[in-house]
Amino acid sequence: MREPSKNCRLGILISGRGSNMIALADAVGQGQIPGAEIALVISDKSGAAGLARASERGLKTLVIERDGRSREDHELQTIGALDEQKIDLVCLAGYMRLLSRYFVESYRGRILNIHPSLLPAFPGLAAQRQALDHGAKWSGCTVHFVDETLDGGPIVAQSIVPVLDDDTEESLSARILEQEHRLYPEAVALIVSGQYEVVGRRVLSNR
Ligand code: GAR
Repeated sequence: MREPSKNCRLGILISGRGSNMIALADAVGQGQIPGAEIALVISDKSGAAGLARASERGLKTLVIERDGRSREDHELQTIGALDEQKIDLVCLAGYMRLLSRYFVESYRGRILNIHPSLLPAFPGLAAQRQALDHGAKWSGCTVHFVDETLDGGPIVAQSIVPVLDDDTEESLSARILEQEHRLYPEAVALIVSGQYEVVGRRVLSNR
């Protein structure tokens, strides 16, 4: 748990559209995540649409390209940028990279991710497609702490949506995304408040 009195500096990592990053920025702007500020948005792709959206809102952005270099080199630079900005909490928001043990260790218990399925069902890529292909009747999204496993860290919050008979990957993704934009700020607010404890794999709210 963190000290509730300290201002919490968020670092958001994106790879694409950045709608979850915008949802977090809106929530911070509207005072829904008390004590938090967005100190840095990092993209591993220079072409990420989310970068322009972040800049439009006056957020500090940084591109740390992954292509053409080793994973270790890329991660070291990313961790260096987070450290330099004294980031307290890292929020992965459509960041399509698996973090190494070293990265996770550097920010142990201080990295969150949002995933478009009800974990532990359908980890990895194309979670909405996986849910449809499996014939699931319900799906949703999960905010969880990041550990060394693929989408496997302790679950902070979940939201469910129905899978309809006429759903396509696009329609299901849109229904889940609407929930993501509500759930991620809520979950970040809980973690920033420090009013939780992790018991084994369970994240318990003391609110
Ligand atoms: C979101 O649906 C997010 O849950 C998913 O990528 C999308 C990013 O959208 N993340 C993953 O699949 C991670 N495994 P956004 O860039 O508009 O936030």
